[in-house]
Amino acid sequence: MLEISNLVKRYGQDEPVLKGLDLAVDGNSVVAIVGASGAGKSTMLRCINRLVEPTSGSIRLNGTELVNLRHRDLRRARRKIGMVFQGFNLIDRLTVMENVLAGRLGYVSLFQAVSRRYPQEDIERAFVLMERVGIAHYANKRADELSGGERQRVGVVRALMQEPEVLLADEPTASLDPRTSEQIMVLLQSLASELSLPVLINIHNVAQARSYTDRIVGLRHGTMIFDGAPADFDKEALDAIYGGIESPEDEAIPPQAGPGKRESEVRHDST
Ligand SMILES: Nc1ncnc2c1ncn2[C@@H]1O[C@H](COP(=O)(O)OP(=O)(O)OP(=O)(O)O)[C@@H](O)[C@H]1O
Ligand SMILES: [Mg+2]
Repeated sequence: MLEISNLVKRYGQDEPVLKGLDLAVDGNSVVAIVGASGAGKSTMLRCINRLVEPTSGSIRLNGTELVNLRHRDLRRARRKIGMVFQGFNLIDRLTVMENVLAGRLGYVSLFQAVSRRYPQEDIERAFVLMERVGIAHYANKRADELSGGERQRVGVVRALMQEPEVLLADEPTASLDPRTSEQIMVLLQSLASELSLPVLINIHNVAQARSYTDRIVGLRHGTMIFDGAPADFDKEALDAIYGGIESPEDEAIPPQAGPGKRESEVRHDST
């Protein structure tokens, strides 16, 4: 359970970018954070993993207050927070397995890491997760030999290797083609329920947010102006969030096709 209350972030002396956000997210629910560019979506995710220092407010993960943690306590808390990035953030010249094992860096000693002596159980877990997302056969390939969709699967597995208690994804599909994006969204949704993991996804594609998440939170200028079910995210909500300007990727909101597609219903092309 992630509980954010009255979160404020001000960069320098500027007007606050986050103006007192409240958000509670349970395990296994996938929340889309939508909002125009500059609304504060990335700032919010970065406050959670403390890449950005919150100005005030509280962020609790399964009861632990994350704001104000320092040094060792901060490092410990951070390993419970998995992060998935738009640009994947893999180390190109390392293999898929090495990238995945990097998710254990918060747990192993420096010696184990530099000598690449990861515990056998880490390697086994890596294979299980890689198998789960369909990249096990690439374990020894260099990361830069993979397609975007495959690279993002590596990014997801690396985050899961941390045994996270929450997964944060900042525009995880923005660099991918539409079909591959859908596959990644479906994967995140399935993993959230399999692992009882709360997942927060910053996303510009409102149609995908509606199809593949359980809840949509809309930010405008650092204030939450929508928080509800995808089915209730209508034209009015869209206008309120984007100020009457259509979101870049949505000329129109397609009708909601019931709950999002399941993973088995989305074709896994080699991407
Ligand atoms: N390190 C920083 N220093 C100063 N201002 C910043 C910093 N990072 C972000 N901002 C400002 O905070 C506001 C919110 O930025 P943020 O990146 O959180 O928006 P966003 O909703 O993620 O936008 P996008 O959709 O473009 O990714 C913007 O006005 C931005 O210029
Ligand atoms: Mg952003």
